[in-house]
Amino acid sequence: MPKRLNNKEVCNVQAAERPLFLCPEAGRLYICCMRHFLPNGKPLVIRPPLVTDAQACLNTFQEVTRETDFLLYTHEESLQMDLAKEEAFIRSYSGNPNNMFLVADVEGEVAGMVSLHQGRTRKQHHMALLGIAVLHKYWNMGIGRRLLTSAIRWAEAHPRIAIIHFEVLANNERAIQLYRNFNFTEHGRIPNGVIQPDGTMVDLVVMSKRIKPI
Ligand SMILES: CC(C)(COP(=O)(O)OP(=O)(O)OC[C@H]1O[C@@H](n2cnc3c(N)ncnc32)[C@H](O)[C@@H]1OP(=O)(O)O)[C@@H](O)C(=O)NCCC(=O)NCCS
Repeated sequence: MPKRLNNKEVCNVQAAERPLFLCPEAGRLYICCMRHFLPNGKPLVIRPPLVTDAQACLNTFQEVTRETDFLLYTHEESLQMDLAKEEAFIRSYSGNPNNMFLVADVEGEVAGMVSLHQGRTRKQHHMALLGIAVLHKYWNMGIGRRLLTSAIRWAEAHPRIAIIHFEVLANNERAIQLYRNFNFTEHGRIPNGVIQPDGTMVDLVVMSKRIKPI
């Protein structure tokens, strides 16, 4: 039977690198830990972050906002995030069965991350907002695909979440291709939904995927 794990047990699960899925029902903690190999032979572990991963997560988040304009945060905004806030951010997931945060761990480096946030109001408890990012040097190695697969598996196991949704910049061809590969549907776009720091305006494409019947 699934049970709530304490932090020590979570560490043991990660050390053992065993695939483990626990149902995110009330009072139970969902843990996902999956082991893969990158095309270069390096091991990739998809796992929930520990609070001790906060600095590595923060570094990766800030680096991705520096490397690309595809996230909704500017690099300057990402620099306002500090270690204490990142630790609180990770803690906010660890005891919450309705939100999910996973990192892609390559030899101790956080190469990428994915999150799902359940809609806050009762009318949107069947919706989960997706966020995903991978460090540039790890692009095109299948990390995005593995992170997205884990997020979809989590949503499939969740008792209420039935739809994953998000908005993606219309010029983010790589991300849109990734989402199309998983049969996400494009529902239209918000013209000029993003204004980049240099003043460039970019449309936002609304996308979603039905995970299971509502
Ligand atoms: C989008 C992102 C998560 C993809 O991560 P990734 O690890 O490179 O993804 P994968 O390697 O698993 O797959 C990338 C897919 O894009 C495709 N792709 C690669 N280059 C491409 C290009 N120039 N144009 C279109 N598609 C491209 C690949 O073919 C691959 O699909 P495939 O599996 O059919 O071959 C990553 O590029 C990223 O973090 N970007 C910056 C942050 C971001 O955009 N986040 C999403 C916000 S909505």
